[in-house]
Amino acid sequence: MIAIGEEFFLNLLFYAPLLFIFTNVAVFVISTLRPRNFPPGPRGIPGLGNLLQIDKKFPFQTYGAWFNARGQDSPVGFKAANNNLVVLNSARLVHETFDKRGAVYSDRPYLYINNEWITGNDLKFVLVENAGPWVTRWRKNLTYMLNPAALKRLTPAYEAEAARFVVKVLEAGPNAKGEGMANLLLSYILSIQCLGLCAKRPEDLGGDLANIQELRYAQQDWISMVTPGAGDVFPPLRYLPSALAPWKDKALRQRVRSEILEVTGGVPPRADHIPSLKYLEACFYEFLRWRPPAPQAAAHATPKDEIFEGYRIPKGSAVIANVWHLHHSEADYEAPNDFIPERWLRHPFGMRLDAEHDSTRLETQGRRRTYAFGAGRRMCPGMESAKKNLLLGMAKFLWAFEVLPPDGQDIDLSMETGYISDLALRPKSTDVVVKLRDGVSREDVYNHYYETYKEEAEVMGWANNQYR
Ligand code: HEM
Repeated sequence: MIAIGEEFFLNLLFYAPLLFIFTNVAVFVISTLRPRNFPPGPRGIPGLGNLLQIDKKFPFQTYGAWFNARGQDSPVGFKAANNNLVVLNSARLVHETFDKRGAVYSDRPYLYINNEWITGNDLKFVLVENAGPWVTRWRKNLTYMLNPAALKRLTPAYEAEAARFVVKVLEAGPNAKGEGMANLLLSYILSIQCLGLCAKRPEDLGGDLANIQELRYAQQDWISMVTPGAGDVFPPLRYLPSALAPWKDKALRQRVRSEILEVTGGVPPRADHIPSLKYLEACFYEFLRWRPPAPQAAAHATPKDEIFEGYRIPKGSAVIANVWHLHHSEADYEAPNDFIPERWLRHPFGMRLDAEHDSTRLETQGRRRTYAFGAGRRMCPGMESAKKNLLLGMAKFLWAFEVLPPDGQDIDLSMETGYISDLALRPKSTDVVVKLRDGVSREDVYNHYYETYKEEAEVMGWANNQYR
């Protein structure tokens, strides 16, 4: 009896761990198979799903190709190991889900690194938080801080920070490139948010934020830990450099510049001039279309099982709006891979001039001018702030400077060799050469900043002789 018992326990000791491992492997492999009635997509490999079929550098291009291959306006479903991913490749699908069924599509997918390591009980970061009372309250506060009246009230700060950015570039000299340029851009873009929140510039906040460079490196570390498509923390920081690249084209430079001269009569552009700078605005929308900083926005998720147009989207699936594909659709845009700001002057959505793209019709279909800021209940609350900031910054920068490629080099605009996409799509290099334009002196640049600083100081409650 005892011998049998011993044998049994020995067997148990030997087989139990094996059984445990086998069961876990089996459960995992089963979880990598396509769920029943999942939206159609390519067949994957048990254990890996479709992981090996996805372009690691620009996954959004693979998703678009799958959609085109199918030739039907339906969501594409696929498996990244055991994760369910559903990609929406058309404006109609984004509207039907994120906009019309916002309550279901406003969660965020669970990401181990994000949810357990980077954020946690003591740190909440709205971009990755699940839908719920905290996100609702946070978004309400932010929307209040960024509403049209608030943006108007803060106009002097937007003005002065853009003017200060121009001064900083001037002081950095003609070769403010690489890290130097990237840090100036970062400091400028962050300023408005910090001033709006606590009337201080980022470098005056003390503690970890005192060193703007540290913040930048910290952000880079963070970014490298997140799988592509998780979203974008500070997209504007990445945006301006790519905005610089197209200025290589001389004709475009001349056109933006002459519009600024025409509208301002040669004085530095101010917020009141912005509504008249139509070509500059066209460039802004074209930058966002052509090289969207977040090519797959930030993934939304469904907090419960969802049936959409007959397909089952299981609870917790990541649902991605493929901004890249929407912005590069041949059916909607003429020569979508070319940078053509003029398309926005011809058509309010920058689209083909045919009956199908009639703007009233597009509006009734819930079409947006740009999907660069996402859609639905988790759409970017900073959109108007970013637009105001970037238009003012671009106008003042182009008023003051001629922007040229680094000596003897071309600016690489090709997606294959010139861009990286981690948390955001961005150019590999921020190297450009800047020089003051004919007719603009250093004194003009400083005077403009002094003038705008006085108005900013009044709004912020600062002494008005402390411009730095
Ligand atoms: C060019 C500039 C910007 C771009 C392209 C951009 C893009 C985006 C995108 C694609 C999302 C995800 C939207 C979605 O899930 O559907 C997002 C979320 C967010 N953005 Fe922006 N953004 C920009 C500027 C800003 C600015 C200036 C602010 C703050 C003042 C801001 C604050 C946020 C916040 C708080 C979220 C998270 C919202 C949520 O999860 O509920 N963004 N942004």
